[in-house]
Amino acid sequence: MKRVAIFISGRGSNLEAILEKRKQGYLECEIPFILSNRIDARGLQIAAQYKIPTEVLEQKEFSSRTEFEEAILTLLKKNNVDIIVLAGFMLVISKTFIESFAGHIINIHPALLPSFPGLSSQKRALDYGVKFTGCTVHFVSAEVDGGPIILQDIVPIFDDDTEESLTLRILAKEHILLPEALKIVIEERFNIVGRKVNLHP
Ligand code: GRF
Repeated sequence: MKRVAIFISGRGSNLEAILEKRKQGYLECEIPFILSNRIDARGLQIAAQYKIPTEVLEQKEFSSRTEFEEAILTLLKKNNVDIIVLAGFMLVISKTFIESFAGHIINIHPALLPSFPGLSSQKRALDYGVKFTGCTVHFVSAEVDGGPIILQDIVPIFDDDTEESLTLRILAKEHILLPEALKIVIEERFNIVGRKVNLHP
């Protein structure tokens, strides 16, 4: 069975969606640990509710980003992790780190990439005046929010939307999309040609 580590930094609602789907039997995988880079991440309480071990590594405890990432890599290797899910992990990981797990790291982003990469995507979509935005699950590459796209879903923007209302509507879709994409990756139901992720039934 594939071994999946989930990285979080905060609220953990996407983490919860994954853990719930696993509990329901939709996702078959081992989750050796949840990693947070913040001790105060609410997601750590969610992990505890589902009785999943947690690890907290804060970058400020290390003298350099390289040392911080080496500590994470040691943890991943010790636990024989196959797949990493970035579920609201708010740190940009280095090219070296990504290369050691190439093709095995996925991320959820609250916009229809390649539109609105980076932070505050919901607000920027609203300010830009687009009529539709959405969410994207993609493989992580060295380019921020730029890796091959596994799944996307669309969310309409209404005239009376605020950043909060739009964020919540996108989040509801994220909670469906991320477990679905993770299932595809766990079951190896894809192949990648160039930038394109072909999905298999
Ligand atoms: C989500 O909007 C996700 O798309 C983005 O960070 C947010 C994390 O939310 N990468 P949560 O911690 O899963 O509730």
